[in-house]
Amino acid sequence: MNILVTGGAGFIGSHTLIELYTAGHTAVVVDNLYNSSKESLRRVKAIIGVDVPFYEVDIRDREGLQKVFSENQFDCCIHFAGLKAVGESVAKPLEYYENNMNGTFILLDVMRNNGCKNIIFSSSATVYGNPAMIPITEECPKGECTNPYGQTKSMLEEVLKDVQKADPEWNVVLLRYFNPIGAHKSGTMGENPNGIPNNLMPYITQTAIGLRKELGVFGNDYPTPDGTGVRDYIHVVDLAKAHVCALKAIADKAGLAIYNIGTGHGYSVLDVVKAFEKVNGVKVPYSIKPRRPGDIATCYCDPAKAEKELGWKAQYGIEDMCQDSWRWQSQNPNGYPKN
Ligand code: NAD
Ligand code: UD1
Repeated sequence: MNILVTGGAGFIGSHTLIELYTAGHTAVVVDNLYNSSKESLRRVKAIIGVDVPFYEVDIRDREGLQKVFSENQFDCCIHFAGLKAVGESVAKPLEYYENNMNGTFILLDVMRNNGCKNIIFSSSATVYGNPAMIPITEECPKGECTNPYGQTKSMLEEVLKDVQKADPEWNVVLLRYFNPIGAHKSGTMGENPNGIPNNLMPYITQTAIGLRKELGVFGNDYPTPDGTGVRDYIHVVDLAKAHVCALKAIADKAGLAIYNIGTGHGYSVLDVVKAFEKVNGVKVPYSIKPRRPGDIATCYCDPAKAEKELGWKAQYGIEDMCQDSWRWQSQNPNGYPKN
């Protein structure tokens, strides 16, 4: 298939390009480079040997997007483009709602006008809020999102469901990612956070390399085995492969399909720190800090549905994730150079 990849220069998008081409598909990237640089696409090229066509276009730019559709024929869109920093979304709700909601509305309209009615959407475990069941199955009711970022994911899921209901020619796959970490095995591609990282793994790698003094562990009094928060960390390459497998649901004309994309295993903050120190032979100084507002104790999924229906299952474990994250950080202490 020929796939439009919005946000394809970003962390998950760039890894997905590699898996798409490896599986025999082709892609075109649309990205406004707000949170990425062209360097990630150069690194994709170094791995797959293909210069993936790239348009520096904002998905809110209707004419720009129409030009992309006029010059290409797409079988499906994998829609990664969006703003994703939870804390920033609390400080800048309008910017988050405007970018994520409006961008998706315009994308969907332009897709429809050009006869492309297949979409795979990057959703998040955040839509479950404080989950009503553990492990979380897709049957778990959605919960209350505590921040505008999460709200946009939850609301866009509903928008996409309504679009599909109104016109059954649409095939909509909602992938609810758990906690993506890790990096490409080559060490040349990985996560490139701006400023002080909010998420656990980039904070660990930046602490290990000396960019940060110590990791703050946000709370050790949760009802978990060691008191620290438990999450379902998933290797970004496994997550990238899930998108290739999700194309099967598109080819099968699944209508609406929802999948949890995680490993099904929960690891605490201290489990991750210990695994990181063990496999990489480096120390991660840490101290216990108060709980972070909005955090939940435990979040991991039952990924059986994706295995049964898509034939997808995570292959990498926590040690691979720690090793690959560290290879990327140590080979690229300052991330990608700017464009
Ligand atoms: P990322 O920031 O690395 O990639 C997103 C890309 O979208 C960036 O390259 C950015 O420049 C681009 N973008 C943003 N707004 C745009 C716009 N209006 N027009 C064109 N391009 C635009 O983030 P990521 O980690 O690769 O995440 C990809 C998607 O997965 C996002 O939608 C994110 O919300 C979702 N997601 C991520 C995680 C995670 O932990 N990384 C978890 C769950 C869901
Ligand atoms: C967060 C977002 C979620 C988003 C996901 C994407 C919140 C409330 N949720 O999930 O919406 O989809 O990122 O990656 O922000 N931790 C520390 N110290 C740190 C950083 C994190 O102890 O410096 C702990 C957290 O308290 C948590 C675990 O590590 O228990 C994972 O945190 P993080 O990587 O930020 O992911 P989530 O909070 O699960």
